[in-house]
Amino acid sequence: MGPPDPILGVTEAFKRDTNPKKMNLGVGAYRDDNGKPFILPSVKLAEEEIQKKNMDKEYSPISGSPEFCKATINLALGEDNEWTKNGLNATVQGISGTGSLRIGTSFLSAFFPGNKDLYMPTPTWGNHVPLAKHAGLGVKQYRYYDPKTCGFDFHGALQDIAKIPERSMILLHACAHNPTGVDPKPEQWAEMSKVIKEKKLFPFFDMAYQGFASGDIDKDATPVRMFLKDGHQIALSQSYAKNMGLYGERAGAFSLICSSKEEAAATMSQLKIIIRPMYSNPPVTGARIATEILTTPSIRSQWLKDVKGMADRIISMRQLLRSNLAKEGSSRDWAHITDQIGMFCFTGMAPAQVEKLTKDFSVYLTKDGRISVAGITSKNVEYLAHAMHQVTK
Ligand code: LMR
Repeated sequence: MGPPDPILGVTEAFKRDTNPKKMNLGVGAYRDDNGKPFILPSVKLAEEEIQKKNMDKEYSPISGSPEFCKATINLALGEDNEWTKNGLNATVQGISGTGSLRIGTSFLSAFFPGNKDLYMPTPTWGNHVPLAKHAGLGVKQYRYYDPKTCGFDFHGALQDIAKIPERSMILLHACAHNPTGVDPKPEQWAEMSKVIKEKKLFPFFDMAYQGFASGDIDKDATPVRMFLKDGHQIALSQSYAKNMGLYGERAGAFSLICSSKEEAAATMSQLKIIIRPMYSNPPVTGARIATEILTTPSIRSQWLKDVKGMADRIISMRQLLRSNLAKEGSSRDWAHITDQIGMFCFTGMAPAQVEKLTKDFSVYLTKDGRISVAGITSKNVEYLAHAMHQVTK
């Protein structure tokens, strides 16, 4: 018997709890202010349009839907960007974020010409480590989060990155860093880009939350676009789980930005050879929904409102949690709750406090003290603040 998954195992434990006040702040899945799963209005519109088209259920190509791949890479790099315009991207549809990362790490494990080590921020998303190892890559770390400030350890990160052996790979969370909610500022990204370039490191961006951090899809893609302008070649994983709420539809993509059209074509062929024995070809429905949203101007504009609405609700829950902790009389500095961004707040609570929060208050979260802010509502925020104060005072 193996251990439960550190993130998805929390949901299993939550489901077994009979306390009516229980809260699931484990997995990063958006909820509305009634704590209910949210189907985006833009998704409903897209589904209506797809229904009308009476589409078949034939196999997708190995690399997925070409329309989906085109719309997806343009969402990341910006409409009319020079890389896709010049045919320099090799983009394949993946099984949401995890599956896309899995394709990317397998490709790099087979073809990366330098060190087969992928340097990850400390901490990083729990699944990054096993998926990279499964693909045969070495996993190493660089400093990222500073527990003293609950913020970004910029100097530590730069120092560590400067020590990474040349021609290694580095994993970067494009926005809404998971699990910490701590993102570098644009000027810090610029500095990191410079060092990464000097060290000839290969950047692999995981962009699972485009639009979810600031509510603005272009602003959230800034680091990816900046690195390309700075002359990096990059790998990029994208997911529509969060920003379209397509969790179970498993829609995502992996891209490699190449130095020539020929290299892009060769990369595509190798990506297909990797995908075929893993799962043959990707599911069609999620990709159809995403394509419909991205390519129909009226639905796209509804989607931009939907994303902004979700990001804004999360930001307002951060403020409410912080103010309720103050009302409870907590003397701790909880400024990081509102300083951090995206789906998660890395609270700084110790494992024993987390355990007490779950045992005494039926509040479920991962052991590292991460809470999914998207699981907080205006109705349960007081209860949460009370519980957090009780375990941290
Ligand atoms: C999370 O970190 O909670 C999400 O990315 C969901 C997952 O698959 O772990």
